[in-house]
Amino acid sequence: MMRPIFVAILSCTLTVLASSLFAATYDHEVTANKVTFSWKLDGDVMHAKMSAKTKGWVAVGFNPIEKMKGANFILGFVKNGKAEITDHYGKSAVAHAADTKNDGSEDVTLVGGSEEKGITTIEFTLPINSSDANDSVLTADGDTVVLLAYAMRDSFKARHKGDPGMVTVNLATGAVK
Ligand code: HEM
Repeated sequence: MMRPIFVAILSCTLTVLASSLFAATYDHEVTANKVTFSWKLDGDVMHAKMSAKTKGWVAVGFNPIEKMKGANFILGFVKNGKAEITDHYGKSAVAHAADTKNDGSEDVTLVGGSEEKGITTIEFTLPINSSDANDSVLTADGDTVVLLAYAMRDSFKARHKGDPGMVTVNLATGAVK
């Protein structure tokens, strides 16, 4: 029979091992409008995570021209334990639609999602340059405008709560302007 002290040490070791194995590794993080966006560039791909205190969707948008217009949006939510994600573009200052509705493609890959203690977290990967005309090319160096928004419902038609946050970052270094 295993001694309690040995069991305790073993269980602590396994917990530490598990958390280091499963902890996502992102290099940079910004928070605006109560949404936290973490990311890491890996060659042609961005690994990203967005999270906010909501049971509805969380979203990030890149490089708008005016308000929502021209931005490349990724929205995700978790409903009944199942994560959903979608790739949209800003078709006007006040409207967006799926890239697939504009001769484009769904270029985001869902990695996982959770809704725990009222916090929705979505992880995904995105190509730096998807070749879809609806998606702005993400430049590693230089300025990237990042929009951060969340809504209170699990519907990609639900509008965001309040005005989204906007930050200008350097994706390679994580520097915030
Ligand atoms: C179904 C989803 C969405 C709906 C219905 C929606 C609707 C709108 C509307 C009607 C406005 C105009 C508000 C005004 O000018 O007073 C607006 C503004 C805006 N939206 Fe959205 N939006 C959605 C998703 C998003 C997402 C996902 C983002 C970013 C991640 C975003 C970013 C913005 C920004 C930056 C503005 C400009 C706010 C300002 O006036 O400064 N929107 N949205």
